[in-house]
Amino acid sequence: MERKLRRSVLYVPGSSEKMLGKSIGLDADALVLDLEDGVALSQKEEARNQVLDALKTVDFGDKEKIVRINGLITEFGHADLETIVEGRPDSILIPKVNGPAEMLEVDSIVAHLENKHDFPQDEIKLMVMVETPAAVLNLPAIANCSARATALCFGAADFMKETGGRITRGRSEALFVLTQMVLAARVAGIDAIDTPYFNIKDEEGLVETTEMVRDLGFDGRCVIHPSQIEPVNRIFSPSQEEIEYAQKVIKAYQEAEALGRGTIALEGELIEALHVEVAQRVLRIAERAA
Ligand code: COA
Ligand code: MG
Repeated sequence: MERKLRRSVLYVPGSSEKMLGKSIGLDADALVLDLEDGVALSQKEEARNQVLDALKTVDFGDKEKIVRINGLITEFGHADLETIVEGRPDSILIPKVNGPAEMLEVDSIVAHLENKHDFPQDEIKLMVMVETPAAVLNLPAIANCSARATALCFGAADFMKETGGRITRGRSEALFVLTQMVLAARVAGIDAIDTPYFNIKDEEGLVETTEMVRDLGFDGRCVIHPSQIEPVNRIFSPSQEEIEYAQKVIKAYQEAEALGRGTIALEGELIEALHVEVAQRVLRIAERAA
């Protein structure tokens, strides 16, 4: 199955009718319709009903529809699932996961509800917030425990609350987590998506910290404000220069192979078969991003 493009994943508080309405016209690849920490306690029920209504009545076009539920240990989590599955979101984002048990619990409830509504089995995917120390230590088990798993999403604010660390521009405090996330995601064949950048006025900081995770291998980043969508989409899309280089690599390698050679130098850089695969991936992403 072709993987979805998840360059930018916009959080939209489910309690805000205005932001829900606005989100439809924005360029984010995916929307997280949030029932958890973006929603005040007094608004939980209203947000849940509003999000269900939006899922049933609004045409979100190509955008992936993700709903972040409240954790099942809260008083809201079960009702969130029960209500939201009826709206057939593409994915459910589970907060504050510590290990595979929480994933599997959601998986089995979703399976039961899909069955009840006569929806195709395993249609609804699961995404995991990586925002507790235990989640980081259990990443391989979490990423591999459910066939519904489709992405790991870093949540830096909760994570730093738990560790007592601080979010810095250089991100040294998060590097261990970020690296583990890419590794676990690649082994499981799912996506790694970064935490939002929390200062919506600092585009330079957003760009710098996003390029860093792009270079680590991340697939995309969560965003919290419309102004963050364009820079993040751009960073996770191949540039014209990268596209042209990928085309050159493929062509040069084909020519070398025709002459019986498995390696060549292109503009001084060694090219082997693996670089052709990388180039093909660049072109695939560019095609989907176009
Ligand atoms: N989704 C959709 N629309 C959004 C949006 C979002 N996340 N954030 C802002 N907008 C809209 C605003 O409603 C406003 O619309 P308008 O032009 O029609 O009036 C426009 O974009 C500009 O917004 P702005 O006035 O600059 O920001 P704000 O002060 O209204 O909101 C935040 C700032 C940070 C409170 C808001 O962006 C937000 O709530 N973001 C999501 C936070 C969240 O979900 N956190 C939980 C996960 S970390
Ligand atoms: Mg959180």
